[in-house]
Amino acid sequence: MEKYVLITGASSGIGKTTAIKLAQNGYKVFAGIRKQEDKISVESENSNIQGIFLDVTDIESIKSAFNEISKFTDVLYALINNAGIAYAGAVECLPVETIQKQFDINVFGAIRVAQQFMPMLCNSKIVNISSMASFGLFPFISPYCASKRSLDIFFNALMLECKSPELKVISIKPGVIKTKIWEKSIEANKKVMESLPESSIEKYRCEFEYLVKNAEKNKDKGLDPERVAGLILKVLNSKNPRPSYTIGADAKMAELFSRLPLCITNFFTKFIMKKRMN
Ligand SMILES: NC(=O)c1ccc[n+]([C@@H]2O[C@H](COP(=O)([O-])OP(=O)(O)OC[C@H]3O[C@@H](n4cnc5c(N)ncnc54)[C@H](OP(=O)(O)O)[C@@H]3O)[C@@H](O)[C@H]2O)c1
Repeated sequence: MEKYVLITGASSGIGKTTAIKLAQNGYKVFAGIRKQEDKISVESENSNIQGIFLDVTDIESIKSAFNEISKFTDVLYALINNAGIAYAGAVECLPVETIQKQFDINVFGAIRVAQQFMPMLCNSKIVNISSMASFGLFPFISPYCASKRSLDIFFNALMLECKSPELKVISIKPGVIKTKIWEKSIEANKKVMESLPESSIEKYRCEFEYLVKNAEKNKDKGLDPERVAGLILKVLNSKNPRPSYTIGADAKMAELFSRLPLCITNFFTKFIMKKRMN
């Protein structure tokens, strides 16, 4: 029997690499994209990949993706909620609209897609591309951290509530991965910063500059997305996958660190931030 998988945000990075990896391993992949050129590009990689127009913030787009996929199958072996962006900034001056935008894509987007595709997901696997940010340790990227923690909470609840005992939800928490997300987030966050009053920019100038420098470093420094794609393949092939996987030394450190009492993690986080700002 064919194993159909839907991946959201498959135009680049982890999503595209995973689409290719799964297709090479016999899965039939519906690759969620938003642009015609990305459909052509992703479909040219492997004949097991079909590009599907899917914007996770647009319910009509999700419904038409569902109708399109229904022409091929009424069962998905897996849904991979991968589409995401990263917003950063100081909570004190972050526009609430930016936080809403962050949640609209990373959290509500995944929920919209899962709700629409639930009839196809009875005994399936839902794999969420969460992040080490879900451990909640990183100041100045709290919108992103909170979105990933929320994603994990909502989908763990979905699994516990669901009437299908065979539905499995798996959270993948990568550390830094070399993808376009870093450049995109620099661009998006610069725009947010420019919209702030001069007093806020001045107050947090050092931290903003550090964030940009760090994102620039991360775009070349992280693990190859191949590593995440390999882990997702392993999870899909496994009969009994764990509910959560961390990938990368940084993610494993973050997980360990997050288990300490909050007063201790806060003390060290402040200490590290102070050192980095000097
Ligand atoms: N890179 C890392 O260090 C890292 C670490 C941990 C977790 N992650 C997570 O991994 C996931 C994939 O990110 P990536 O690093 O591979 O970055 P990426 O290359 O920028 O991929 C992000 C994908 O999400 C799509 N997307 C954005 N907004 C969307 C929307 N409204 N509807 C549908 N698709 C949308 C993008 O499509 P367009 O091209 O059309 O914009 C793109 O395909 C994200 O959830 C991210 O949070 C990344």
